Amino acid sequence: MKKLWGGRFQKTPEKWVDEFGASISFDQELVFEDIQGSLAHVHMLGECGILSLEEAEQIKTGLLLLKEKAEKGELSFSVDYEDIHLNLEKLLIDEIGPVGGKLHTGRSRNDQVATDMHLYLKNHVNEIVGLISAFQETLLNQAKENVETILPGYTHLQRAQPISFAHHLLAYFWMLERDKQRFSESLKRISLSPLGCGALAGTTFPIDRKLTAELLEFDGIYENSLDGVSDRDFIVEFLSNSSIMMMHLSRLCEELILWCSQEFQFVELDDTYATGSSMMPQKKNPDMAELIRGKTGRVYGNLFALLTTLKGLPLAYNKDMQEDKEGMFDAVRTVEGSLQIFTGMIGTLKVKAEKMKKATTEDFSNATELADYLAKKGMPFREAHEVVGKLVYTCIQKGIYLKDLPLAEYKEASDLFSEDLFEAIDPYTAVAKRISDGGTGFSKVKEALLKAEDALS
Ligand code: ARG
Repeated sequence: MKKLWGGRFQKTPEKWVDEFGASISFDQELVFEDIQGSLAHVHMLGECGILSLEEAEQIKTGLLLLKEKAEKGELSFSVDYEDIHLNLEKLLIDEIGPVGGKLHTGRSRNDQVATDMHLYLKNHVNEIVGLISAFQETLLNQAKENVETILPGYTHLQRAQPISFAHHLLAYFWMLERDKQRFSESLKRISLSPLGCGALAGTTFPIDRKLTAELLEFDGIYENSLDGVSDRDFIVEFLSNSSIMMMHLSRLCEELILWCSQEFQFVELDDTYATGSSMMPQKKNPDMAELIRGKTGRVYGNLFALLTTLKGLPLAYNKDMQEDKEGMFDAVRTVEGSLQIFTGMIGTLKVKAEKMKKATTEDFSNATELADYLAKKGMPFREAHEVVGKLVYTCIQKGIYLKDLPLAEYKEASDLFSEDLFEAIDPYTAVAKRISDGGTGFSKVKEALLKAEDALS
């Protein structure tokens, strides 16, 4: 098969070599971005008098035709033309004749592919920002329903101190707020046009890069042509932001998986976000949460794959860079899919408030309360810690909790104890009293809900 670049060649590669080198199987995902970039490029060529206006119009008409066919799924691509760029150029020439061959004037596939990738990520990062907001709204709504739902907070996965469930959900709200900021801030680096950088050095044609940048709604252009065609930082940054966000989602996955276990029973997933077992009839498995936790590893993998691909590359374009795409597409699908699943999963989550509360009364997560109680009555906290630690030990020996120990025994441990200690160690009181800024106290959580609402609007 004669190549579009075949002039200086005497032989063509074997079919399997072509197949190895081709990217069309995956870069056809860029079909619309590629057409969009070409439309801007050819418009500029016409405006700058590099092509006649008539030629530019002919090419535009051809490109729009290809776009229509692509929308209907009527374009067929071939490995003989390697990638989306050459396939479209070939199809254009088939469609409108040799004038189609003028489209590539003053352009290289190197700036073309970079432009496509920038366009693709710009769209998807905007989409992701919207999906994060939707998920945050769902978290916020669940939080509003659960201000006074208390559960044990954990450290080391040991019950630590009782907290409001809304407070726990809002922790994720703020993680996602930072994720959203990171994605949004990255847009100013994604929104740069490499178009017109040529193969590496610019072009001798009197092109207007600012015009194509404007037509493609980029905020600016790459200042240096070598940088423009070599830069893949924007993808590394995207994968890095995606990795951080997936890490957050994965932690919530882990908690959901624990919480819906028989051991915790804090929540129940809606049937639509769970699956059964082919053998064990009783099972209801949190597959979606497990899968998102699992897919987090893929996203990290994509980040490391690209960093590794890039680390030894001399300027400017190297074919290695064709490897930048699959990981990016995969991460986009994973991030968007995970956010959509999470919005549904949290929105339909059944919170078992009674079970959560019971867990706070059948443990020692109110021990800090008791130490604080003594400290407020003047005992140095370190001493109070020791006294309460001994009382906890006594309780464990007797198989009871702090609330069950008689006042007389408290008094034996310290004469600072009086009847009001029982109110102080009530888990509800324990939560209510934590009104330091950012704390779990109900009044603080209510303020936090307003702040979160504010951040969302
Ligand atoms: N398919 C290539 C890629 O994705 C397009 C750029 C190829 N440029 C070149 N000179 N071989 O990276």
